[in-house]
Amino acid sequence: MPDDLSAAGRDLRAYTDTLRPRHGVVRNIHGEWVLLRHGLVVEAALDDERFSSAVSSHLQIPNGLDAAEHTAYRQALDRFLTPEALAPFHEEFRRVAADLVASLPRGVAVDAVSEVGVRFAVRAQSAWLGWPADLEDRLVTWVAENHAATRSGDKSWTLKVAEAFDELIRCVLEPRRSAGREGGADADDVTARLMRTEVNGRPLTDAEIVSVLRNWTGGDLGSIAQCVGVLLHYLATHPELQDRLRSGVPEAELDALIDEILRIDDPFVSNRRVTTCPVTIGGVALPQGARVKLNWTSANRDEAVFGDPDALDPARNASRNLVYGIGRHVCPGRLLATLELRIALQELLTASSSIVLDPRQAAERAVSPVGGWRTVPVVLA
Ligand code: HEM
Repeated sequence: MPDDLSAAGRDLRAYTDTLRPRHGVVRNIHGEWVLLRHGLVVEAALDDERFSSAVSSHLQIPNGLDAAEHTAYRQALDRFLTPEALAPFHEEFRRVAADLVASLPRGVAVDAVSEVGVRFAVRAQSAWLGWPADLEDRLVTWVAENHAATRSGDKSWTLKVAEAFDELIRCVLEPRRSAGREGGADADDVTARLMRTEVNGRPLTDAEIVSVLRNWTGGDLGSIAQCVGVLLHYLATHPELQDRLRSGVPEAELDALIDEILRIDDPFVSNRRVTTCPVTIGGVALPQGARVKLNWTSANRDEAVFGDPDALDPARNASRNLVYGIGRHVCPGRLLATLELRIALQELLTASSSIVLDPRQAAERAVSPVGGWRTVPVVLA
């Protein structure tokens, strides 16, 4: 049985494409059971009683919670991510995107991931959470460190990066807290409102607030940046689609295209589960306590469901698209992510006449377990 889904330098998609027709479930070098087929990933994601999300000894809110406890936190937190809650930020995101695009050089290579995706994600997120602009460089450094630590598989490095993030968040929380203590005006940004949020009749603890912000930020910064890389690579290699979008398509159509491009090359590779009892899935018997990975990237390319996985067909594939997951842990940030990605693309396309890959430097794939691209050098004209 193939056992290595983590080797550096491989395009994870090409590898899982070769495995999936023969194996629905494979075991990786870390002893985790990786689900590769669409049906199996959906089955595990929907069976949250037997496939628990309590996979980490660290507090993970809401990701690591199960059942009623999870529901209580999601109810309290999802209200920050509804269309109404996000409406006040549309203009701000557009300004952030327009300023960034205006500052990009024309006629020379820029990296779609680090110079466009990461910068945009950090600035948009700071605007959303009410964080000061001078945190930008620290957040950018943190995203890079976080990716490097994740790639290395070195647990002590990952822990150090997590602690660095906690420290960064404390710098954001403290001024809001002391303003409250000193009777100053209560800030009314998203962070301040999160600090006043109650779950089960009591306010969130400090550790819980940090955990929520870590999960929002992890979702937002890392994934948005990777998504921008995937989207710009796709557009740069599909000039006819670029022209069509530049001539203007309705928002809903653009959103559907974004989802479909991300389905073809889903940079948010996998999430973990642990079995709560012996389970047979895909014909493989797993013991209680088995560590399982739901490989969204592979499931999103399952030929049994999508036919040719590279064929762009939003109307046909939307209902089975798993980019934002499925089941009780389905991504609460989907609307925010789609809004940010739509605005970033619109501004990039409006302010350019063409976006092409730099002929002098090849784009480089990210190293597993990070998906998408590490760098995508593009030239804007
Ligand atoms: C940019 C693209 C994004 C992608 C592709 C993505 C994808 C996903 C997926 C597949 C899950 C399911 C996890 C599971 O089943 O274990 C998830 C969960 C989650 N996402 Fe996202 N996400 C994105 C952006 C965001 C944003 C912008 C936020 C918040 C600001 C966010 C916050 C979360 C949280 C908190 C969870 C855990 C939900 C739970 O466990 O109940 N994500 N995301």
